[in-house]
Amino acid sequence: MNVPQHVAIIMDGNGRWAERRGQTRTSGHRKGVEAVREAVRSAGEFGVKYLTLFAFSSENWHRPQAEVNDLMGLLKFFIRRDLAELHREKVRVRVIGERMSLKPDILALLTEAEELTKENSALELIIAFNYGGRDDIVRATRLIATRAANGDLDPASICEKTLSAALDTGDIPDPDLLIRTSGEQRISNFLLWQAAYAELVFLPCLWPDFDRSAFEGALQVYQNRTRRFGNIAEPDLALGS
Ligand code: IPE
Ligand code: IPE
Ligand code: MG
Repeated sequence: MNVPQHVAIIMDGNGRWAERRGQTRTSGHRKGVEAVREAVRSAGEFGVKYLTLFAFSSENWHRPQAEVNDLMGLLKFFIRRDLAELHREKVRVRVIGERMSLKPDILALLTEAEELTKENSALELIIAFNYGGRDDIVRATRLIATRAANGDLDPASICEKTLSAALDTGDIPDPDLLIRTSGEQRISNFLLWQAAYAELVFLPCLWPDFDRSAFEGALQVYQNRTRRFGNIAEPDLALGS
């Protein structure tokens, strides 16, 4: 099986999952954390090397304060409860997104998780938290402009590699497969630059229902896609035309 090296997931539908059961949105998010655990475990078993999970977008701050607080609390809960086990399983945890506006306790936990697991290499779990694709590009641009203004970089030498390297995902390969649950068919400001050639798979299931078999199903869909990267399909190439 041709397993994608990097799978990125927009974990959507926690609220609807809860509403359908007459429960609070918070309980949907809580159930969503269980689905995160299963997704990480499954990714390791399938042989995926990088798993990026969209946990909180730069636009999610617009939600009611109580829900924002719940989501912050759940991130802390997840790291506190699961970090030791992730480390045992040799998972490297990394976080992408804007960090300045995060509370110090969250920042400290994220840094602790990254530091503890930085030598691990079974699977890289990349948590996109306070992440926005546009914000990522803006911050990268600022970095590059500063280097140019300082005379450390010749503007004429700026190319796609320069920008790719300056993004939060600098040394992480682009996603091969981008999955979104909940039936919505949009990117919602996720990895805008990085997903240029990702295969998109939209699943109707809500995130709390995303289990190992749903993950496997998405990988099977990926198997049947032909990636061309602007070229022509490989058999046609071999034939010459
Ligand atoms: C995804 O579920 C989790 C986050 C965005 C943090 P939602 O909370 O967006 O659930 P729906 O889309 O309202 O059902
Ligand atoms: C995308 O879901 C963000 C995350 C999954 C963290 P949203 O629920 O915020 O996206 P929209 O608002 O439906 O586009
Ligand atoms: Mg949503």
